[in-house]
Amino acid sequence: MIWTVLLLVQALLLYFIFTQRSRSKSEPPLDKGIIPWLGHALEFGKDASKFLNRMKLKHGNIFTVRAAGRYVTVLLDPHSYDSVINDSDSLDFTCYAQVLMKRIFSLELSHGQMAKAKAMMKKHFMGMNLAALNCTMERNLKALLKAEMPQNQKDWKKEGLFDFSYRLLFKAGYLTLFGREQNNNSTDPSSVYEGYKKFDGLLTKMARGTLKPEEKRTAQSVRKRLWELLAPAGLTEDSGSSQWLHAYSRLLEEEGADEDTQKKAILMQLWATQGNVGPAAFWLLGYLLTNPEALTAVKREFSQISQRETSETCVMDRSVTTPVFDSALEETLRLTAAPFITREVVQDKSLQMADGQEYLLRKGDRVCLFPFNSPQMDTDIYHEPQKYKYNRFINEDGSLKKDFYKGGKQLKYYTMPWGAGTNGCVGKQFAINTIRQFVYMVLTKYELELCDPDAQMPEVNAGRYGFGMLQPEGDLLVQYKLRNKH
Ligand code: HEM
Repeated sequence: MIWTVLLLVQALLLYFIFTQRSRSKSEPPLDKGIIPWLGHALEFGKDASKFLNRMKLKHGNIFTVRAAGRYVTVLLDPHSYDSVINDSDSLDFTCYAQVLMKRIFSLELSHGQMAKAKAMMKKHFMGMNLAALNCTMERNLKALLKAEMPQNQKDWKKEGLFDFSYRLLFKAGYLTLFGREQNNNSTDPSSVYEGYKKFDGLLTKMARGTLKPEEKRTAQSVRKRLWELLAPAGLTEDSGSSQWLHAYSRLLEEEGADEDTQKKAILMQLWATQGNVGPAAFWLLGYLLTNPEALTAVKREFSQISQRETSETCVMDRSVTTPVFDSALEETLRLTAAPFITREVVQDKSLQMADGQEYLLRKGDRVCLFPFNSPQMDTDIYHEPQKYKYNRFINEDGSLKKDFYKGGKQLKYYTMPWGAGTNGCVGKQFAINTIRQFVYMVLTKYELELCDPDAQMPEVNAGRYGFGMLQPEGDLLVQYKLRNKH
């Protein structure tokens, strides 16, 4: 027994000696944390924004931290972001995406399959195809809102704004891309949403591999249920799903993916297309409702559009310009879009900083940008960055304000909610149009107000930093009813 314990201790000691990493002069400052192997993983996962701010104060704009056995170099100088974003030879997007896909969706796709799927997605979410998708989305949103609040209902309906926004946008997005209602082959969007919400609640833990046994069981059963519910989507021409989903399913089939892989891939697409839009619309409506001046300005802009509205056409086509809304949305995303832009270092790389410094990145490490901390919440760039100012991104002449500075130098990246470069968001235009349609309908056709006029925006769930749009801790109670026609 004693010998076994001694051997174990010895093995552990040797493991730590041989896996000890020290910093060479040409590398960024290294901070391994005090816990062997785990390093800073717990603090990183608990509130990444706070942790990275603490590291920045200690080390500056670039540093390497150890988290769960991996070394991650974090870069927080937006002037230097291009050296990461533009180097897809040494810094690979797909490797880390594959790790997450496996952990969250139990899905394995090759580099080639992912590249083909992305090229196809670009085709379907841009140009004429995008215009058609926008119109379908508008129709679905209209129908859902109408069902929510029929003409003859005069009383206020009460609900948390987050639930309201996420639920309606999820259903509209699901119907637009995955299947239409009143079709025997398609699944009721409410049951998909119910499963999806449970899945979404466990997502960050799945990604970090920190599910407790009970949560693991729940995650597995919800995932299985969603695979079944989504199975008809995209498989037949008459399932009512979009051209894009048919093409995606055909592509997977041609690539030799079996039926299980196809189901898993469709769940991944459900998350990629629906996971951020609802939360973004929530934050925007929440900021407008808690900032009366902003609400009035956006409503004034929308009322000019609604005067031109006819029942036939899609109101919010691309030709409609809404600079006040655009600024209000940009400001919302500045405060609540918090993705990590993560790349795997696939060959040693020398990273050139904007200040002339050069650092070596080691093959096998990861590199991570966190634009939420800088530029988005950077006090050097924005005056009172914690405050919502709906007109921060609009010039006096009504044009979009794009000139922001740090250290006297104009920034290329002053917000980055959509990522950037070749791996930037494919669905950006579709997402913006969807949010604009939704907010337009809610504000022009409905009366929407806070139940408590003095209510404040809820805090953010700090565990979600790094996973796209933030979500609130709690909700904002609102009431709504159909607007009286004069
Ligand atoms: C408010 C809504 C959304 C936000 C804030 C958002 C944000 C992002 C970000 C930050 C990335 C880049 C990740 C990186 O560089 O590591 C990304 C990628 C992506 N987004 Fe979005 N997204 C949104 C909505 C959508 C929608 C509606 C779709 C599809 C219709 C979509 C499809 C994609 C795809 C396919 C990628 C991966 C691109 C690649 O493989 O290189 N997104 N998104």
